[in-house]
Amino acid sequence: MRILVTGGMGYIGSHTCVQLIEAGMMPIIVDNLYNSKKSVLARIEMLTGVMPTFYEGDIRDRAFLDKVLAENNVESVIHFAGLKAVGESVEKPLEYYDNNVHGTLVLVEAMRAAEVNSLIFSSSATVYGDPASVPIMEDFPTSATNPYGRSKLMVENCLTDIHKAHPEMSITLLRYFNPVGSHKSGEMGEDPQGMPNNLMPFISQVAVGRRGYLPVFGDDYPTVDGTGVRDYIHVVDLADGHLAALNYKGKEAGLHIYNLGTGHGFSVLQMVDAFSEAAGVEVAYQVVPRRPGDIAECWADPTKAKTELYWEARRTIEDMTADTWRWQLNNPNGYPDV
Ligand code: NAD
Ligand code: UFG
Repeated sequence: MRILVTGGMGYIGSHTCVQLIEAGMMPIIVDNLYNSKKSVLARIEMLTGVMPTFYEGDIRDRAFLDKVLAENNVESVIHFAGLKAVGESVEKPLEYYDNNVHGTLVLVEAMRAAEVNSLIFSSSATVYGDPASVPIMEDFPTSATNPYGRSKLMVENCLTDIHKAHPEMSITLLRYFNPVGSHKSGEMGEDPQGMPNNLMPFISQVAVGRRGYLPVFGDDYPTVDGTGVRDYIHVVDLADGHLAALNYKGKEAGLHIYNLGTGHGFSVLQMVDAFSEAAGVEVAYQVVPRRPGDIAECWADPTKAKTELYWEARRTIEDMTADTWRWQLNNPNGYPDV
């Protein structure tokens, strides 16, 4: 089974390629390397013994996508490519709408022309905005508070309309909660450029001595200890969620929507403690004012994915922290440039 993986060199895409190959499928990767490095390919080969086909190019380039689809007998597309930094999206909304919304439309046009009818899209729990209650179910109202979130919601809406007009298509929207962790080998992980936006890479850079302390964005939320609570999910569990979606829904016409989370929330300070425990080093932190736009707590009700995709997250918070630490120690500066 040949799967076109857009953004397959990135954090979630690379882990998904490893799981696809291990399950006997063949990823065809398309990536413009905007936020990833070519050396990821060698790591995929190191971990699986298979070097996937890689096309360097942009999903907004229709002629390029037509060529990739003409050269490969693709059955399904998993679409990770896009921009993902909330703060940056406020500064550069045009780039976010162009990459995330326009890019997806070009991709679907190319799929329609090539008669590829199966698409899995990387959506986000951000589409639930500030939820009225937790855990969050798929039928909760959606909203967005920043251009990144709005771009994800726009794509969800576009794909819903496209599905109405072309009901023979199988379109799956996977709403990820907070992906963290690394491949257990320590050879593949998250490699943010510059200052990390997200909690886990920041903690691990403090633990390894690259940064002095973690800024904790507020300790006066109505949560267990006053700090923000999120549903952290191991990236390999998340990757496996895509395989489950492919296997159980990829060939079934319809619009399918699933939360991919664990169903459990951890606070910022609980994550700091778990990481200190796994790494055996103290993680220094300082409480600073709340980050604008943050919500108090957010975790998934993952029942629908469990019932319909026969998938649930298996890896623990200890796995998430220990695997991140192994990756950080083995690769203190991330992937090599070549
Ligand atoms: P990432 O930045 O590591 O990977 C995205 C990849 O897409 C990168 O390799 C980048 O070079 C590539 N890319 C970007 N624009 C492209 C374009 N126009 N053409 C071709 N390639 C392009 O991000 P990630 O964390 O792996 O996230 C993957 C997807 O999951 C994104 O769509 C993101 O919005 C979504 N998501 C991520 C999170 C998270 O916390 N990581 C949470 C929810 C949803
Ligand atoms: N946090 C800190 N200090 C930091 C970074 C984060 O205290 O340096 C806190 C945040 O305030 C929040 C928690 O750690 O309470 C998690 O923050 P992240 O930035 O790691 O994750 P978010 O939940 O804010 O957002 C992430 C992705 C979004 C995605 C969302 C839901 O960054 O793209 O999950 O999927 F939309």
